[in-house]
Amino acid sequence: MKNIAIFISGSGSNMKAIVENIKQNKITGVKPVLVLSSTVKAGGLEYAKNSGIDTAVFSYKGLNPEQISDGLITLLNKYDVDFIILAGFIKILPEKLVKKYKGRILNIHPSLIPKFCGKGFYGLKVHEEVIKAGETETGATVHFVDEGVDTGEIILQRTCPVYQDDSAEVLQKRVLKIEHELYSEAIAKVIEL
Ligand code: GRF
Repeated sequence: MKNIAIFISGSGSNMKAIVENIKQNKITGVKPVLVLSSTVKAGGLEYAKNSGIDTAVFSYKGLNPEQISDGLITLLNKYDVDFIILAGFIKILPEKLVKKYKGRILNIHPSLIPKFCGKGFYGLKVHEEVIKAGETETGATVHFVDEGVDTGEIILQRTCPVYQDDSAEVLQKRVLKIEHELYSEAIAKVIEL
């Protein structure tokens, strides 16, 4: 059994989808032991608590990279975490942590990497840019996290169409729907590696 920690900052819909898939035995061999949020405001925290998963709020505020990685590593050790699942976690992980967990940190991005990713590409902005560029296809990508931003090895990608009258909000919803299936599939794939 592999222990996973899911890191969130927002609504946590990807986290919820992963936890639901585990509850329904659609993914086996993984146990969510911790949901960590960068802010107390993350909507997903309540859901995690109600699902019987331990939660933690870890703010980067006033901490240097060394203190951030030491703080996070202490928490991850406490829960004997094998894999870190970034699910809308808005903060960049410090290099020391990324090195320690190399090959064991996953992230999901709402575009077809290498398109529309990197610094500044998060939230609605990604979908606005896809529409602006006149793309007819977009999608989601699950990848390993390395020292760069959205540069790690790709695990799985899935596409969906972009329609001419799409707003960024509509497109975001379409992509999120894919994300909710894709992330669990990618976790299952990595666990089997
Ligand atoms: C998702 O679009 C994900 O691809 C990106 O952040 C968003 C998180 O959404 N990294 P949610 O909090 O899982 O609903």
